[in-house]
Amino acid sequence: MPHQQDTELAELAGGFIHDLKNSFSTLSLQLQLLSEDFADPQNPKERRAVDRVNRLQGECGRLVDISNDFLRYARVKDLDLKPTDLHLVVDEMLDFFSPVAKTGGVEVKSYVPAGLPAVLLDVSLFKQALLNLLLNAQQAMPDGGKITLQASADPLQVVLQVIDTGKGMLPEVAERAFRPFYSTRPGGTGLGLPTTRKIVLAHGGDLSVESEPSKGTRFTLCLPVASVVGREVYCLLNGTRVPISEAKVSVLDRGFLFGDGIYEVLRIYSGKPWLEADHFARLERSLAAVRIHGVDLDRLRKQIREGIVSGGFSEAIVYIQITRGVAPRAHAFPTNIRPTELLWIKEAIDTYGPQRERGVKVSLQPDLRWRRCDIKSVNLLANVLANQAATEVNAVEAILYLEDGTITEASHSSLFGVVEGKIRTTVNNPGILPGITRKFTLELAARIGVPVDFRSLHRDDLGSAEELFMTGTSMEVCPVVQVDEQAIAGGKPGPVTRRLQEAYHKVLAEFRDEPSIGPM
Ligand code: PDD
Repeated sequence: MPHQQDTELAELAGGFIHDLKNSFSTLSLQLQLLSEDFADPQNPKERRAVDRVNRLQGECGRLVDISNDFLRYARVKDLDLKPTDLHLVVDEMLDFFSPVAKTGGVEVKSYVPAGLPAVLLDVSLFKQALLNLLLNAQQAMPDGGKITLQASADPLQVVLQVIDTGKGMLPEVAERAFRPFYSTRPGGTGLGLPTTRKIVLAHGGDLSVESEPSKGTRFTLCLPVASVVGREVYCLLNGTRVPISEAKVSVLDRGFLFGDGIYEVLRIYSGKPWLEADHFARLERSLAAVRIHGVDLDRLRKQIREGIVSGGFSEAIVYIQITRGVAPRAHAFPTNIRPTELLWIKEAIDTYGPQRERGVKVSLQPDLRWRRCDIKSVNLLANVLANQAATEVNAVEAILYLEDGTITEASHSSLFGVVEGKIRTTVNNPGILPGITRKFTLELAARIGVPVDFRSLHRDDLGSAEELFMTGTSMEVCPVVQVDEQAIAGGKPGPVTRRLQEAYHKVLAEFRDEPSIGPM
């Protein structure tokens, strides 16, 4: 297993450098004592000896520095993440950094506002990354200058920029700035910025640099907001537990090259998989439809249970992706290929709560997908583009229409209307995903006595629909109160939607009270 080999090698190197560092430290101490013995050289020979001892001490000190930097780099793992206000961390950091910088003629200005969405930080590790950026900026301004910190946020990420007015970097230097052991600074170990980047990546974020010689440098650090990430992630790649930031697949994976794979998403409530049998039945159908064989679904089910227990999950999302596997690029199926199996479980933060209460705005977008949308395939480009177009007009979902105006579903949820007191929805067909929440909602409709008319809505019907709502694994039952600029049902969630939500939550509450899952 390549991952295990990497881990083994990293542990070996870490242990090796740690031992070397201890020897260097002893060496350094002995040299220190030796230089004290020669504190008062009596002749040229002794003076030469002192010179040599001092030089050796300097080299030894440098080896200790490199070893420390190496260990800091190698030990970026097992983060202790907590929802944190970036503003507070930056303030704390600047409290001690700004006065020091000022003595070197560097002024620090911070425009990091309070009230940014919380990000998940291992605070001490993150401070190390931030300090590296600040020191890097300071070192770029030996004659003084200005460091500006500024932050902004969107629903998905918080962006922090560290900008200096220093000497800047040539493009070829900026390009290599994050490469380990690359440094243009005399005495630099070349591990400061790579460690910084590694820390940021380990937080699920990203760090990039732009620079212009004699103008300055701007580091841009992006961190996903806590509500999007969830706290814990349990990840299995081909059955092996890996930290999600280290889960890697080959570039020859057919999922990557062709989108040749399928996926499934389940919700865990109170530590139990919700509507598990239906999700697994759909997974089995998707696999059969794209002819991916050799996946042991019972084992997958068991792995989910083990993951829930070992990660201590209560509210979580399970993501399963199975691709045809890794092989030289050729369209037809390779023979003897083993599917790539990815499974992760991450804590679910129910961001849909307020939207389920108030209702949401959606946007009408053309359905540009293929003719087998009943397969839950990872080919989601058309869904992604439609959802992005909706996001850009401040809508939470895109509802999709065909060329003749027929509504199919939404980019990642199922769509329903209420017309003349009856629920209207497209009958399951290859043009839509047979949503598991959709199926459950239709069962609830039968239970509470609301009739269902299996006919598609048309984009021209939307304005006159009595109600509109969507369903999905994370979203559950969510009212739609606006389609682009048009209000639906007076801009308020309608009574049928409310009754379905109520029924949904009643069954869910019973499910939560059922005994926890045991081993299979
Ligand atoms: N999306 N329609 C589409 C196109 C979907 O992608 C989804 C689910 C649904 C709702 O299906 P279900 O009730 O089984 O979740 C309908 C998943 C959750 C996703 O892509 O993340």
